[in-house]
Amino acid sequence: MNLRVSVWRGDADGRYQDFDVPRQPSQTVLDVVTYIQRRLDPTLSYRFACRVGMCGSCAMMVNDAPRWTCRTHVDKVASGGTLRIAPLANLPVVKDLVADMREFFDKWARAQGRFVPTKTKADAFAVVKPDSRPRREADAAIECIGCGVCYAGCDVVAWNRDYLGPAALNRAWTLVNDVRDGGKDARLDAVAGDAGCHSCHTLMSCTELCPKGLSPTRSIAGLKRATVGFAPAGEGTDD
Ligand code: SF4
Ligand code: SF4
Ligand code: FES
Repeated sequence: MNLRVSVWRGDADGRYQDFDVPRQPSQTVLDVVTYIQRRLDPTLSYRFACRVGMCGSCAMMVNDAPRWTCRTHVDKVASGGTLRIAPLANLPVVKDLVADMREFFDKWARAQGRFVPTKTKADAFAVVKPDSRPRREADAAIECIGCGVCYAGCDVVAWNRDYLGPAALNRAWTLVNDVRDGGKDARLDAVAGDAGCHSCHTLMSCTELCPKGLSPTRSIAGLKRATVGFAPAGEGTDD
């Protein structure tokens, strides 16, 4: 039995091309794309690395919803034996199924998503109790693999391309709760502006779609609380 697969070809002005792909047991969407590239059209461009849900590079639109393709089984998504596969939404298209992730990761940098050490290697290891509130908050958001699924599914990103988006804000919240980090004031400053956490409409798409089961919505709510009454760097903060 074959699967009818429509695949986006070309750049933003491209079109869908149809392929017939044999069904296999436990077949993933990434298996389907790989079959097309290896057996039917070697010019098809797509991106993957680990195939086990760790690297975050294989995300694509599958029947109009963003998904990690290496862990998405065809049986779960191929309604009526058809699949439509396209590059991640809300990002420029490089070619075929490859989205340009630069703006996604640039926004991590704009949200100050980089750990700022306060100790040197000469200092003792920091002791952070596993049951402390900041540690539990950081743990709840830390498993992000940077796949861009939440970003592709966020309507606010679609309306406002300046919006930092769920993944960058989720990362910022992880670091705000990291008691070893020294960049908190600059980070809260970075996420408090017009393109930051207060632009989130709490539509929850990111939380519903995240393949790692994270809740960027919850992280953004934390940032909203932390930035209410936030005093810019140098004036102190009570959070
Ligand atoms: S909850 Fe906020 S960040 Fe998440 S998808 Fe909705 S608007 Fe975007
Ligand atoms: S928060 Fe979830 S959906 Fe968004 S980039 Fe991280 S792992 Fe992917
Ligand atoms: S290929 Fe690495 S997460 Fe899918």
